[in-house]
Amino acid sequence: MIRILQFGRIGQVGQELLAQAPAHDVVLETVERDDLDLTDAAALERFLDRAAPFDALVNAAAYTAVDRAESESGLAHALNAEAPRLMAKACAARGVPLLHISTDYVFDGTRTGAYRETDRANPQSVYGWTKLAGEEAVLGAHDRNVVLRTAWVFSRGGQNFVRTMLRLAREREVLRVVDDQRGCPTPACDIADALLRVAVRITRGAESGPQGVFHFCGDTACTWADFAEATLEEGARHGITARVERIPTTDYPTPAKRPANSVLDCSRITSVHGIAPAPWRSRLPDHVDALVKSL
Ligand SMILES: NC(=O)c1ccc[n+]([C@@H]2O[C@H](COP(=O)([O-])OP(=O)(O)OC[C@H]3O[C@@H](n4cnc5c(N)ncnc54)[C@H](OP(=O)(O)O)[C@@H]3O)[C@@H](O)[C@H]2O)c1
Repeated sequence: MIRILQFGRIGQVGQELLAQAPAHDVVLETVERDDLDLTDAAALERFLDRAAPFDALVNAAAYTAVDRAESESGLAHALNAEAPRLMAKACAARGVPLLHISTDYVFDGTRTGAYRETDRANPQSVYGWTKLAGEEAVLGAHDRNVVLRTAWVFSRGGQNFVRTMLRLAREREVLRVVDDQRGCPTPACDIADALLRVAVRITRGAESGPQGVFHFCGDTACTWADFAEATLEEGARHGITARVERIPTTDYPTPAKRPANSVLDCSRITSVHGIAPAPWRSRLPDHVDALVKSL
């Protein structure tokens, strides 16, 4: 059994980690916001000093409100950069790895193909900058640490794009959705599975370069409008009849700028850890079924 300390219990990825840990022979010690506010640096340091021994730490907590971060940069930085820095420091002192989640929004979107781990990050938003600062702090602290960059996360329970489309489809006949930003939808269950597999391999001492940055996302790139259409296709089984109108980003201004292309190349995690990109389209039906019930 491997013992992992996990921050962020009730987020999209956090819940899936909890559900899947037993299948990986992992015992999770989870911490949520009510136990510890991660923006309180002194409390976090105290907590980490006193924590019982663990084999790895997984950080699934983050400030994820991309638009609100533009006006709450201090809070976003505390959670996305400073807290991971303190986690990384504590892990380095104990000699255990930290697995941290980051985002496709560290890229500026100007590349034509899929982004590789070696491509230059150049965030376009406060959220992206704070996540990049978190990555740098984690990777600089210990050479066994892992940053898993993922994208467009959806789950059966959390706040996400699929839930928003289903809710709006109940209120409107036409959903106007951006059709010039491309990325890869990623089910949270597959992120949790990937993280646990990597954590187990690292703590058991897999030899060939298991650390550093890895990209992990859904296996097929699409636009937000494509993703909305796929969601409504599944929603039709529940009587949803709304349709998508494809619009350009210029018709849907947001406080935070998003990359036009944030497709991630996942070949490194496949070759190093044997983990294939997530089959998001085939996961969508049961996610829609679950989300429709909780709208
Ligand atoms: N969502 C996406 O589309 C997306 C895309 C790319 C990358 N990512 C990355 O993937 C990771 C997981 O995302 P997610 O979608 O699972 O996030 P999420 O559902 O928003 O969950 C975030 C978690 O952080 C916790 N948290 C927030 N503020 C906190 C605080 N002050 N103290 C302690 N805990 C706090 C939340 O607790 P409460 O529920 O109590 O607030 C929640 O458990 C993040 O690193 C995110 O940046 C997400």
